[in-house]
Amino acid sequence: MIYKIREKFSDFLDELEKSLEREAENFNIPKYLIKGKRLRGIISYISGNIHKVPRNIYLKVAYALEMVHGASLIHDDIMDNAETRRGGNVLNRILPTSTAVIIGDILFTKALREVSEFPLFFRRLTNAVYEMALGQYIEDTVKISDEDTYLDVIYKKTATLYEVAFEAGALLSGFEDPILRDAGRMFGMAFQILDDCEDYLEDEGKPTLPHILENLGAKDPITLSKDKASFYLRGAEWNLERLGYLGEFWDLLEYMWE
Ligand code: IPE
Ligand code: IPE
Ligand code: MG
Repeated sequence: MIYKIREKFSDFLDELEKSLEREAENFNIPKYLIKGKRLRGIISYISGNIHKVPRNIYLKVAYALEMVHGASLIHDDIMDNAETRRGGNVLNRILPTSTAVIIGDILFTKALREVSEFPLFFRRLTNAVYEMALGQYIEDTVKISDEDTYLDVIYKKTATLYEVAFEAGALLSGFEDPILRDAGRMFGMAFQILDDCEDYLEDEGKPTLPHILENLGAKDPITLSKDKASFYLRGAEWNLERLGYLGEFWDLLEYMWE
């Protein structure tokens, strides 16, 4: 399904890819490390289309979202002491860790600078970057053993960026859209829960939802966690339906269900 999405958005993705590749070249980042699914960029593009945002603007915005996401992964891999990312070595196993840290900082700040001319979007993206760092901090310093703390952490570290991506078109047109934002929140929550289900067996030392449920005595923690993700996805769908935007986002949601 990701191929179908890639096909549908190929012109936009080609341009996005070019600007991200230029960035990688600037900092000697190998190509495989910048090959993401571009979900956040694609979502902001759909949202931009709905609100008739000009092409040059939503390209900048998609680039900024993917740069923020990429920077967060560089720092996350250092924090998680991970070995691989996107099919190869993590950046801090190719370059000194200190260099990887500062490249992350450069990408975060460059992304924000790129969108500083769009005040509302800029404010929200800055807030998302802050929340993401806070989420990572809490995950690193608090022993998470209950569902509420886990949900708060994944909201901060993952869902806040999806909120901005879903709401991008409205924010760039100068207004907030709480229903679209809420769709982004629920999509992001489902996304991280599903990712945590996939990583369940590789112990990263992070107590994620399936681990928490298992510790509480659940017999089938993965099914229960996936049910929770479905609950959030349905919520996202319901909000998009209310706005009449479900069709635009349908392929993406279908892909998430798989
Ligand atoms: C991975 O995100 C990190 C999480 C928030 C779980 P993606 O799965 O969107 O990463 P890429 O960009 O496609 O590699
Ligand atoms: C991804 O978190 C980083 C952020 C959301 C900022 P995870 O550690 O859960 O994701 P993966 O499994 O490394 O991609
Ligand atoms: Mg990680």
